Amino acid sequence: MIQEGNLANFRKSYEKGVISDNFKHFSPFYIFQKWFEEAVEDKHIIEPNAMTLSTISSENCPKSRIVLLKKFDLDGFTFFTNYNSTKGKSIQNNNNVCLNFYWPSLEKQIIVIGNANRIPQKESDDYFNSRPHGSQIGAIVSKQSEVIDSREFLERKFIELNDYYTKIKPKRPKNWGGYLVKPNSFEFWQGRKNRLHDRLEFIYEGNTWTSNRLSP
Ligand SMILES: Cc1cc2nc3c(=O)[nH]c(=O)nc-3n(C[C@H](O)[C@H](O)[C@H](O)COP(=O)(O)O)c2cc1C
Repeated sequence: MIQEGNLANFRKSYEKGVISDNFKHFSPFYIFQKWFEEAVEDKHIIEPNAMTLSTISSENCPKSRIVLLKKFDLDGFTFFTNYNSTKGKSIQNNNNVCLNFYWPSLEKQIIVIGNANRIPQKESDDYFNSRPHGSQIGAIVSKQSEVIDSREFLERKFIELNDYYTKIKPKRPKNWGGYLVKPNSFEFWQGRKNRLHDRLEFIYEGNTWTSNRLSP
């Protein structure tokens, strides 16, 4: 039982890994790939590709929410969403975004800051066409982030469109697709003993990546 909401004794010691000094010489993309592979192999992590995406609205208000990473390569990080959603509108106004991966069982956090841009329509089509039928209908049904009357409204629309699309193949709505986040900084965090955590940042400046160890 939590006493009067006091969480002062919620403490754990972090001892699962290290970031040695020679990591400084690696590419941040390589380190991301290696850590991601570790997360995929860890049976405690159900969705290793779930990441927190933070955006800034036109009123300069931040908002964070989870989205799923669907592709990672040297160009950056791709996720899919509705371009007319709250996040889509925020990115339209200011494409500086932050991605955060936290894998508690590995005591690892990765923070990526970069610029989000829509991927080519053909790539969004290809991904949309690869999705299960129900998810395709769901994307067509949902005007993501808009106010709706009831759950029933959604269910009814789903049934209607599901019937309609038994004869024809669902097509990607133009307002649904991918964003590629091109990183300009990475921070790798590994929990360590006595709160002396390891933090290694990489910054892209003047066409090259430079790295620094940060104080925990
Ligand atoms: C595990 C998980 C995965 C999610 N994946 C996505 C996703 O890939 N794309 C997406 O648009 N929303 C995804 N969502 C829903 C978002 O968190 C959010 O509710 C939605 O995108 C609307 O956000 P917005 O109104 O800020 O634009 C996911 C939520 C969770 C909890």
